Amino acid sequence: MKKDMNTHEILQKYGKDAENLLALLHELQNTHEQHYLSAENLAAAAAHMGLTEGYVYGVASFYTMFSLKPRGRHIVRVCQSPPCHLMGSTDVARELIKVLGVSFGETTADGQFSLEMSSCLGVCGVAPAMMVDDEVYGNLSASRVHEIIEDLRRVK
Ligand code: FES
Repeated sequence: MKKDMNTHEILQKYGKDAENLLALLHELQNTHEQHYLSAENLAAAAAHMGLTEGYVYGVASFYTMFSLKPRGRHIVRVCQSPPCHLMGSTDVARELIKVLGVSFGETTADGQFSLEMSSCLGVCGVAPAMMVDDEVYGNLSASRVHEIIEDLRRVK
């Protein structure tokens, strides 16, 4: 199975040194089609690094950047830090809730989008900002948010 082979390849890439655990978990999550760490991922990471599954689960559940439940194909993160807040991130958030039909922390029924809050994305100069997967969007307005989501929906 291709997916198992990918997991195997990722494990090999990070070696067995426990100091690579966070980087390994990151890559396992990023390459999972549902952008989360499955029980199989955690078990594989633990076995590979000679750690207990409980320890790896503890690490994965400690950091908010890891998800232990399935997420959408696209992860939409809205910056909620003060500069973006002052520049209208509340309107951005409201539009996303309307367009996607989900609240923060939820995934659309079609599995396409998960909506999340984020702290500063590092582009305060173009606040308000959001990130979709690896791409950052700034100077957002409600209509621009609508356009971005519609464009993503078209590219299936
Ligand atoms: S505060 Fe939003 S990108 Fe920095």
